Formats: sequence, structure tokens, C-alpha cells
Amino acid sequence: MANYVVHGGKRLEGILRIHGAKNAVLPILAASLLSEESVLENCPDLTDVRSALRILEHLGCTTSRRGSELHISTQGCTRWSIPDHLMREMRSSIVFLGAIVARFGKAQLTHPGGCELGPRPIDLHLSSLEKMGVQIQEEGGYIHCVAPEGLQGATITLPFPSVGATENILIAACTAHGTTTLFNAAREPEIQDLADYLNACGASIQLRADGSIQVQGVKRLGRARHRILPDRIAAVTYLCCGAITGGSLTIEDTLPDHYRAVTQVLEEMGCRIYCEPHRIHLTCQGALQAPASVRTSPYPGFPTDALAPLMSLCTVARGTSIFVETIFQSRFKHVPELSRMGAKIRLEGNVAVVEGQEALTGASVCCTDLRGGAGMVVAALAARGRSTIAEISHILRGYEHLDRHLRQLGADIVQEGKDVEQKKDEGYEQEGS
Ligand code: UD1
Repeated sequence: MANYVVHGGKRLEGILRIHGAKNAVLPILAASLLSEESVLENCPDLTDVRSALRILEHLGCTTSRRGSELHISTQGCTRWSIPDHLMREMRSSIVFLGAIVARFGKAQLTHPGGCELGPRPIDLHLSSLEKMGVQIQEEGGYIHCVAPEGLQGATITLPFPSVGATENILIAACTAHGTTTLFNAAREPEIQDLADYLNACGASIQLRADGSIQVQGVKRLGRARHRILPDRIAAVTYLCCGAITGGSLTIEDTLPDHYRAVTQVLEEMGCRIYCEPHRIHLTCQGALQAPASVRTSPYPGFPTDALAPLMSLCTVARGTSIFVETIFQSRFKHVPELSRMGAKIRLEGNVAVVEGQEALTGASVCCTDLRGGAGMVVAALAARGRSTIAEISHILRGYEHLDRHLRQLGADIVQEGKDVEQKKDEGYEQEGS
């Protein structure tokens, strides 16, 4: 089991480069099934990315990594079924559904991995594909899909702008017969990145300002080279790390426009922020003030994934902050862990009331989920004394070299023990040497 050990109280200072976005690379890897060959630049080496590559390889694709560049060739892809153990590795495995049906006219898979954030149904994914001519049957835990006439363009209105359902529809629609119009689609920057990749492959996708998407089906997709956009949630997490230590950070290769909803709150709290198109600078001196209230909502609103890191910052701000979570049922699982560090947080349903304290104290805590774990790192950087953060495999799903980057900025953080994937790497290295 791998832990982070943090001695808090070190001021962070320096320059950091942000890796490619997990939530962009995962659907693009699924979409790559429709292209003969793809080269994807700026791909972070994350556990979830490795899970997606394992699915591609199971389907018969060839994948290889050179640094942050991934090569995917789908010429040997002959399977249309994903076994349960691969589906369970991550929630995003469901985005392979649209791509497999588009390629083979059929697919067979199970429900994606259970999630720490509460129930995550896939009804919107399935009902949308049904509108596109897919017949779906569930039996023995498996979802059997077949499109006897091939995928058909359709007009679909989502009751909620689901990110994953939007991605599945977008991918499926690219080579469907006719035009697909999707209303109330998700508008997250990662959707634009997926559309950019698919258009580079020869698709005809138009994202409109009113939130609708139009896809004109084409016969087939060709090869493409695409650079994954920078991770906005990683950027926001590092900004919170800088702010809680009263530090001064510059983040490069980032798109601050994608997380303005968060930087507005940081400014309201007293951080000084200067944005350029691809760079952001944060300085934080003196006590932070609690923000009025933070309510998560689909893009361009405050992202649910940024809630936990910002909440940690508010545990040491002056005053009371209120967080309202509107996307997931169980976003507050990490709160009891933060309380071990002395945070004062009251939970009432989907609302968390945070009373800022003078200081936190180091403690032994355990990650409950990816962003909750990142929130614990933020808190530990400011806590007095030593903290041990266990179960960091959650964090490794979404942050590349988090400890190394923080050390470069001056933090006292080390990893103890090895994660399962890290042990595998060592095994491979020993075999090769
Ligand atoms: C994606 C992101 C995740 C982010 C979330 C919201 C990836 C890999 N993950 O997750 O980091 O927190 O968007 O911005 O990109 N829902 C249904 N039925 C469905 C689909 C969704 O009820 O068929 C509900 C979910 O239970 C949840 C809400 O809609 O309550 C949002 O889900 P969705 O936008 O689909 O998020 P994900 O794509 O799972």
C-alpha cells in the first residue's frame, strides 16, 4: 500500500507545467477505435489512462508510449466485448460503448466500475444510443447492444448535460447514417477537445454556442495527430496548494480561461491572480477570507471536481463558507478525514458548512476518492506537523507525479511504499534489465 507523508508548513514557490487532462484523454482513447491510427501528444501516465489502454489492447489494438506521446493502431481490432474486470477498473469505461457499436455494429460489456461519489447510472447513455438505432438487452450483468441497420443519426435532447453521455453520442454519431443533433449537451472543454480530435480524423462535428451539437455522419475516419488539452482540475489543485501555504506559483501550459469559475473564488478569498492565455500566476499573502458560497454546476459553472481542494483551503480561511454540491450524491466522503486534521465542517445533505480555523494539525488520514484525496494533500501542506495520507491509488488515477511536483515547489512530501501500477513498472524494468 502506498502513502504520502507530509510535513506541513512549507511555503510553495516556483514554476510548474501542467499535464494533459485525464477527462480529455480517456474519451479520446475510446474514440481512437474509429481511426486507423492516432498519435496523441501530452498524455499523462495515470492509472485511469493505463486502464483505457488495457481495454484497447484487449480489443486487439496496438498501443505504445514514448514519453507523453501515445501511439494507437486499431488495425488488429477484432473484439467487440469488454470483460467485467476491465469495465470495473474505471467509470469512464462506459465511453467505449459508442465507439465499439460504431465500429462493429454491436457491443457487449458490463456496467462500469462502482463509484465513490454515489450511484452513477448510465440510463442517458443507453437511451440515447437506442434513439440511434441500437437494440439493448441486459442479461446476466451484461449489456448486449446491436444496431441491425447500423447507427442512424437522431435528434436527442439530454435532460441533464451529462459529460459521459455527450461523449458517447458524439463518438457514435461520427460514422452514423445521416445527421445527429444533440440538445442540452455538456459544454466542458474536454468535449471540445474530443470534437477537435474527431474532426482532425475527418469527422464533421459542430459545437454551437446554444449548447447544441450537430454531427454529420461520414463514411469513415482517417489517421490523426492531436495534442490533449491541459488538465484544468490539476491546475486548480496546485493553485489551492500554493494558496494554503501563502505561496507564489506560476503554472505554465495551462488555459486559465477554462477554470475562471475557480479563480474568481480564489480572488474573492484574497489571492492575487494574474492570467495570460497559457499561464497563470498566483500570490497569496496574509489571511484568506471565506468566500460567500460555492455551488457546483455544469461548465462553465464551478466544477464539482474542484470542490474538495477548495474546501480544504476554506478550512483555514477567516469566516464561514458554504458549499452546495449539485452533481454527485456523495461528494463529501472525505470530510470526516479532514475533521481528523481539526477542520470544522458540518454536513447537511448536499450542503457543507465550513468554519475556518486558525490552523490544522497533522493526522493519519485515508483517501476516499480522487479529488477528496487531493483535498487531503492540500490540507496536509498547511497542517502543523506530520500527516500520513493512505490509499493514494485514488490520487494516482488523476495526478501525474503530484509528490514530485510539490517537492520541486518546496513542499516536504514523500511517497512511502508502491502502488500496484508502480510495482508492475518495477517488475517490467527488472525483466528488461
Ligand atoms: C465526468 C468527469 C468527472 C466529472 C463529471 C461532472 C470524466 C472521465 N469524468 O464524469 O470527473 O466530475 O463529468 O463534471 O470525464 N447521470 C445520470 N445518468 C446518466 C449519466 C449521468 O443520472 O446516464 C448523472 C450522474 O449520476 C451524475 C451526473 O449525471 O449525478 C453527472 O454525470 P456526468 O456528467 O455523466 O459525469 P461523468 O461523465 O460520469
